[in-house]
Amino acid sequence: MCGIVGYAGPRDASEVLLGGLGRLEYRGYDSAGIAVDDGRQLQLRRSVGKLGNLAAHLRERPVVGRCGIGHTRWATHGGVTEENAHPHRDASGDIVVIQNGIVENYLELKERLVAHGHQFASQTDTEVIARLLGEYYEETGSLEQAMRRTLAELRGGNAVVAMTRREPGRIVAARLGHAGGIVIGLGDGETFVASDVPAILDYTRQVLFLEDRELAVIEAGQVRLYRLDGATIERAPMTIPWDPVSAARGDFKHFMQKEIFEQPRALTDVLRGRIDLDDGAVMLDELTFSERELRQLERICAVACGTAWHAALVAKFAIEALARVRVEVDYGSEFRYREPLIGRNAAVLAITQSGETVDTLAAMEEARRQQAKSIAIVNAVGSQAARLADGGAIYLHAGPEIGVASTKAFTTMLVAAYLLALRLGAARGVLAAGEVRRYIQALIELPGKVERILQQHAIYEELAERYHGARDALFLGRQANYPVALEGALKLKEISYIHAEGYPAGEMKHGPIALIDRDLPVVCIAMRDGVYEKMISNIEQVRARGGHVIAIAAEGDALIAAKADYVIEVPETLPLLTPVLTSVPMQLLAYQFAVRRGCDVDQPRNLAKSVTVE
Ligand code: G6P
Repeated sequence: MCGIVGYAGPRDASEVLLGGLGRLEYRGYDSAGIAVDDGRQLQLRRSVGKLGNLAAHLRERPVVGRCGIGHTRWATHGGVTEENAHPHRDASGDIVVIQNGIVENYLELKERLVAHGHQFASQTDTEVIARLLGEYYEETGSLEQAMRRTLAELRGGNAVVAMTRREPGRIVAARLGHAGGIVIGLGDGETFVASDVPAILDYTRQVLFLEDRELAVIEAGQVRLYRLDGATIERAPMTIPWDPVSAARGDFKHFMQKEIFEQPRALTDVLRGRIDLDDGAVMLDELTFSERELRQLERICAVACGTAWHAALVAKFAIEALARVRVEVDYGSEFRYREPLIGRNAAVLAITQSGETVDTLAAMEEARRQQAKSIAIVNAVGSQAARLADGGAIYLHAGPEIGVASTKAFTTMLVAAYLLALRLGAARGVLAAGEVRRYIQALIELPGKVERILQQHAIYEELAERYHGARDALFLGRQANYPVALEGALKLKEISYIHAEGYPAGEMKHGPIALIDRDLPVVCIAMRDGVYEKMISNIEQVRARGGHVIAIAAEGDALIAAKADYVIEVPETLPLLTPVLTSVPMQLLAYQFAVRRGCDVDQPRNLAKSVTVE
């Protein structure tokens, strides 16, 4: 979604803002803008399209100043135009504001303002905030006070950042609800503000996060924090471990490709410090449950969106099999509106890369309302999901994921889910130490096995060459590999725009079989597991109707090789863990198809990396 950056300090503000916005490009946007105080007035520069357009605009009409705010917009209210791009101004032109989130009651507020004689310059909900700030500034003579008064009128979740020419060198930032985060970066004699940590990592790792209903007054080298009701807050900064180099693309053509190849490292890091092979134990010290509570757990409601939802489906297989705890899987957007019954001895398991997906956060809040704990499996350090997780946040340690299509976050989510399942299984007496050890051993071997898959190139290029013109594709799998089939289809449609469906293979005869013809590539995941023979029958059914079978099979499986048009071999592991390996060919297939079709791999059309609005 939208990105926010602000700066107060001795550097050239335009440069800091543009650079910071560049770091947030992965969030997806359709226009961008900055406002900088040049000592005489607030200079606004805004452009539609990529940040390159804004940079060109700034080269033509440079603006020099030491304090400013910038924004990348992903349209919600109003079309993609320069007038609708942020920052927005109040009626006097002395106040500028940027916003993430949605003002739910903006129409009502706008009507009132129009009745007061305001003439709106844009169709956005953000301009309502700008104009309210202007009105309240006239009354209070203070941006901080005006912000308090304005936010008291807004409904919805928002992160709002504003500045005024009348208070040079000062930025006021505030947060309402969970739709937009605010992080403040503390430098030496300079201060940064942003929606996300990567925007400021080039400058500092000392950060403060704003919580719901908090406000910050930011100046060069200093920050004051308040609750919206006026109370002062004392909060120690925390140190963010990511380094800027790992956020850059390095030698890879695309971030997605880089992230696919980072998986061996990421899969190692997610295990780090959490396994003891000698004792056959999994340590998840981040969980806040007592041993007794773990034993008494009867039910887990797993909630997630997009790719993370597929990870939740795999988590269900793992937790039910290894810990014998019932797991229900919901989409965040459905869970929050269906009056869910969480019940006693139950926990919510939120799975989210960004930790900012609003529908997933809503499930965690529902858990709190029903007095159940929530556990988060989450990548972004210090994100909202991590902070809301009173049952514990299990960090993926995958490092920043920039490509919109999730890859290393997905496979590390699976491993985190296995660790949770093993920890639960051991605590509940379902798994003996020997059995846990067998799984730990297999987990330890996964990074190396992924490395082996990554060494194959030719097959993906060949497949992309042969099938890149396909209109549709079908992905089939069974058991724990059924979610992988869903994920394979999602990956392909997200970045190559080929229509793709994922199905549990046994369900094919109830519908998708009608799609099979001579033009349809069908990706079949056929590992040697409990449903291997069933999968072979499914492959026969596809072949009998002229479909092209691309099989994902165990290394050296001659039987599958004889039946399929193409085979992608993956190493064997314990059946429950195969999704970590079978999902890697899904990523590579989607990537090669998208590249062959000339698509924008890292920023596919209409998609955003983290969806902080409904
Ligand atoms: C967006 C992204 C997906 C992601 C989903 C959930 O739709 O494009 O790649 O899977 O959000 O995001 P989360 O950060 O909660 O894992």
